[in-house]
Amino acid sequence: MTDDVLKPDLWAPRSVTETRAIYADWADSYDADVIASGYATPTRLAQALRDHIAARDRILDFGCGTGLSGKALTHAGFTDVHGTDISPEMLGHAQNAGVYTQLWQSEPGSIDIQHGPYAAIVAAGVISLGAAPPETFETLIGALPAGGLLAFSFNDPTLTDGSYDAYLDGLITAGKLTVLYRAHGPHLPKKDMGSDIIIARVT
Ligand SMILES: C[S@@+](CC[C@H](N)C(=O)[O-])C[C@H]1O[C@@H](n2cnc3c(N)ncnc32)[C@H](O)[C@@H]1O
Repeated sequence: MTDDVLKPDLWAPRSVTETRAIYADWADSYDADVIASGYATPTRLAQALRDHIAARDRILDFGCGTGLSGKALTHAGFTDVHGTDISPEMLGHAQNAGVYTQLWQSEPGSIDIQHGPYAAIVAAGVISLGAAPPETFETLIGALPAGGLLAFSFNDPTLTDGSYDAYLDGLITAGKLTVLYRAHGPHLPKKDMGSDIIIARVT
């Protein structure tokens, strides 16, 4: 797939079947495409998380894709990073990234937590329009112990849409999550796209 995949309709609601098909097609060129656009969110998220947990703490990279987010976590100093994704094609590349101590395929709406407990679950570019739905927050909260951290991003189209933020507000109001950190910055800067990175604690 070419750079053309990074156009606005990538960030639109779609079914799990369509999402899997997009990532199956994109897996081989994903890294080149997003790196060429300056993909910055994984590094911003990993560096922010370092201010909240120790480098040796176990982390799950949820929606790890080809492993770019795991590489960012490793570069930030984290030493025990597990990864999971629903796309076998993306996972094939993650295997070659060589940064995960455990790696497995999961089904939408569930994660196998037999390898936990996790100090944090990271979802870089995953819970957003065109990928995992906002209900994914419930799955991730259920997989974390009280006090565990959820580190995730909302890109600009997702922020503009507002439905993911509305869902997050509901979780905060219900007392399930407390936001510790939130900042806007570059996501795909060569596409003039930013993202919010957010770190929240399970309460
Ligand atoms: C934009 S990529 C981000 C990959 C990686 N985190 C990164 O930063 O490069 C989105 C990933 O989310 C995965 N994904 C989409 N829907 C998902 C779901 N419901 N549950 C888990 N992963 C999902 C896709 O397979 C894809 O690998």
